[in-house]
Amino acid sequence: MAVETAARQPLLLTRIADAREWVSRERRAGCRIGLVPTMGALHAGHGSLAARARSECDRVVATVFVNPTQFAPHEDFQRYPRTLAADLTLLGGIGVDMVFAPDAGEMYRGGATHAGTGAGASGVAATSVIPSTVAATLEGECRPGHFAGVATVVLKLFHIVPADVAYFGAKDYQQTLVLRRMVEDLDVPIRIEVCPTIRESDGLAMSSRNRYLSPEERERALSLSRGLAAAERAFAAGERSAAVLEQLARRELELAGAGPIDYVALADPETLDRPQRAGDRAVLLIAARVGGTRLIDNRMLQ
Ligand code: PAF
Repeated sequence: MAVETAARQPLLLTRIADAREWVSRERRAGCRIGLVPTMGALHAGHGSLAARARSECDRVVATVFVNPTQFAPHEDFQRYPRTLAADLTLLGGIGVDMVFAPDAGEMYRGGATHAGTGAGASGVAATSVIPSTVAATLEGECRPGHFAGVATVVLKLFHIVPADVAYFGAKDYQQTLVLRRMVEDLDVPIRIEVCPTIRESDGLAMSSRNRYLSPEERERALSLSRGLAAAERAFAAGERSAAVLEQLARRELELAGAGPIDYVALADPETLDRPQRAGDRAVLLIAARVGGTRLIDNRMLQ
């Protein structure tokens, strides 16, 4: 007879002091801690980060916090899906030990405002992180204050959960560069691991925002990965002109009626400088709206 064993739910903590205490106890016991910061509405992409952490660390902590300071007032903060019960089930199935899911009052005791509206560069009214210049371009231009909000909340999470390794997805490519520079520049003793983008079988990059798409918009959204694939094929065949590679990707978006297009940009993988010709390695990044949903995707050309 098959015996079904229910996956253990992770321990859920909502207070900073409790999370700190739990982590310091595990560290004192000699455990290596892996951290997976998320905004919840989890999908298989997040699952792959947690699974990687599970395979490399003794204890795995995930955080679930929809961070107001990285959203501009006109963005989807209110609408962002909150699915904590399902998130806990998914994380429990992977063997995550603890989930830290504070509310905004707990995270920002001094108050928080939305990105671009606060006293400083971010939406945080109190002290905040000013990210490196790699934050200034692309997403930084389209979403002023966004990366200050991301860097600030991630640094706070790193202080609350002083992990050995933190896992992020390559889909948010610019975010990974911003955070890598932050830990380097501010001497944060946490290693950042960037894990591959997880895609649906038809190529769509997994994203919590995909659930906003109607079936017809989801079809159109495939043009992002199709555009990246077209540019990748041309790159593999020897094309190195940034303008040509960008145009190949842009054409797929236009044919599908996706837009407005925020950017289709060939960039240096480390600095995000925009060369006229790609070297041996370049990253192609896209941000475009499909219906009311803003999607991003990227591919390393090498
Ligand atoms: O990538 C995300 O989900 C968020 O930007 C992060 C890193 C959890 C910070 O809020």
